[in-house]
Amino acid sequence: MSLPTPSPTARAVITGASSGIGQALAESLARRGHSLVLVARREDRLTELARRLSARYLVTVDIEPCDLADAADLHELVTRLTKLDVSLLCLNAGFATYGALHELDPAREREQVAVNVVAVHDLLLGLLPNLVARGNGAILVTGSTAGNQPSPYNATYAAGKAFANTLAESLYGELAGTGVSCTLLAPGPVRTEFAEVSHLGRIEKLLPGFAWVSAEQAAEAAIRGIAAGRRRVVPGPVAKLQGLIGQYSPRSLVVPILGRIYGGLR
Ligand SMILES: NC(=O)c1ccc[n+]([C@@H]2O[C@H](COP(=O)([O-])OP(=O)(O)OC[C@H]3O[C@@H](n4cnc5c(N)ncnc54)[C@H](OP(=O)(O)O)[C@@H]3O)[C@@H](O)[C@H]2O)c1
Repeated sequence: MSLPTPSPTARAVITGASSGIGQALAESLARRGHSLVLVARREDRLTELARRLSARYLVTVDIEPCDLADAADLHELVTRLTKLDVSLLCLNAGFATYGALHELDPAREREQVAVNVVAVHDLLLGLLPNLVARGNGAILVTGSTAGNQPSPYNATYAAGKAFANTLAESLYGELAGTGVSCTLLAPGPVRTEFAEVSHLGRIEKLLPGFAWVSAEQAAEAAIRGIAAGRRRVVPGPVAKLQGLIGQYSPRSLVVPILGRIYGGLR
């Protein structure tokens, strides 16, 4: 079993905790007795979540409002977190953009790489040495089925999630025997604010109801996966199928199909 035992001094850090999967991870971990550090930009939401979880589950919940796309903010966050006894690190914050790369806002694309890639890497570089020295702990990286194959009109996101997926699964192998585990959460469609943030309203109509899982289902699957020492967790049958198609179909087939689907969403 790889889920660390909760203790009053240890902390589970969750990025992207103000909404969706991150918020559900926070609730599931607090219910299991873990004290938390919640990271996201929307301080009001973090404050309210911290108040609710600490009152309900009698755990300590601290907040770290931070723009992970801001290099200085990120550096300060990493410095503060290295002073804590972090037993569980959930690298979950992220967002997507859809459209042709040459037509998208370059600033938003850079911000996406900063949050989905650079922040994940920097938090790992900063906190992994302490985790390994501790000899006991777990890492969860939220990648995506989008990281399994190239995706026209979703290029930055697909490339960023390919980084997250590969990094997490590489660390799964590399950390064997250290007492620290690394699990990839690679969801398909999850009902969160993600579609709204990504201006993807039409995806709701495109995908049937059974294709979606809730944030709570994704979070619970992830935590059970960590506990079982799993390399990759893909919540829901549709995402599992998506994962298989993405990983094992010829790219000459997948690229034009996804191009039509995502191109049609524009
Ligand atoms: N929903 C899906 O269908 C789906 C599928 C596959 C993978 N995923 C992945 O799941 C993860 C969680 O997404 P979600 O579905 O739960 O979406 P969500 O409800 O939109 O949550 C995204 C979280 O990321 C945080 N975030 C975004 N930009 C940030 C920044 N610059 N600095 C700090 N925090 C930032 C947001 O907080 P603030 O806005 O308060 O900063 C929010 O807490 C993401 O990595 C996403 O790529 C989602």
